[in-house]
Amino acid sequence: MRVTIDQIKQMKQNSAKIAMLTAYDYSTAKIVDEVGIPLILVGDSLGMVVLGYETTIPVTMEEMLHHTKAVARGTKQAMVIGDMPFMTYHITTQDALKNAARFIQEGGAQAVKLEGGVTVAEKVRGIVSCGIPVMGHIGLTPQSIHQLGGFKAQGKTLAAARGLIKDAEALEEAGAFAIVLETIPAELAKIISQKVAIPTIGIGSGAGCDGQVQIINDMLGSFTDFVPRHAKQYAKLADIMSNAITEYYNEVKTCSFPTDKQSFSMDEGILAELESKTNRKV
Ligand code: KIV
Repeated sequence: MRVTIDQIKQMKQNSAKIAMLTAYDYSTAKIVDEVGIPLILVGDSLGMVVLGYETTIPVTMEEMLHHTKAVARGTKQAMVIGDMPFMTYHITTQDALKNAARFIQEGGAQAVKLEGGVTVAEKVRGIVSCGIPVMGHIGLTPQSIHQLGGFKAQGKTLAAARGLIKDAEALEEAGAFAIVLETIPAELAKIISQKVAIPTIGIGSGAGCDGQVQIINDMLGSFTDFVPRHAKQYAKLADIMSNAITEYYNEVKTCSFPTDKQSFSMDEGILAELESKTNRKV
């Protein structure tokens, strides 16, 4: 039985912290799921950490669906949340509904996430009214990176902080089941978390949120372009991978891989026949 939105909301009521991670492929999703992480986000961050784009803006619905399907196949208990890419929910509510539905019907996700507050509230209401759970995302919203002027903390002025509180309230009122708070002051995140009844999931927004999310490549240390300030590296997978690949490379060059253990042998009779038929040693 998969985690439900009621269970996630209940965790806030019980003051139980919520851990969320991103995943983009079958094998990783399977590990995350088996650990018991309740929320797996197939984030459009895959554009940067998997596909090598500079921002999340070029990511398409087809790319998101491709990875969401893989994550859905790798999971049994977690709620899989598909991240709606740039301009797939902005133009009309009809577009938003159609694209959200694709995540559920084709991707195998149980919920979608989209960026924005007051400005997307009507779209959220529409998607929720079709029975699709929606997670909001406010603060540093990477799809608006050019409007925001870079990857920098949001909500630092009085007006901006008030605006984010309004955004969170609008999302709750529109029926979102949780809200990601990205890179906003810890104090503001705490205030928002107290103001709304639905769980807040922080990234770079302090310990006062109801839960936390990390990009898996950041926390495992497998993305080497840069380490965001909000990330904690629990491992240095890039070093482990590089060492293993170097060892393999050297073993192939020196003929110490493969050994008999990784090889398959032939019946001696068949081999003798083969050698006599071809009239030379094989
Ligand atoms: O795309 C993503 O991975 C996200 C998280 C940072 C919340 O939106």
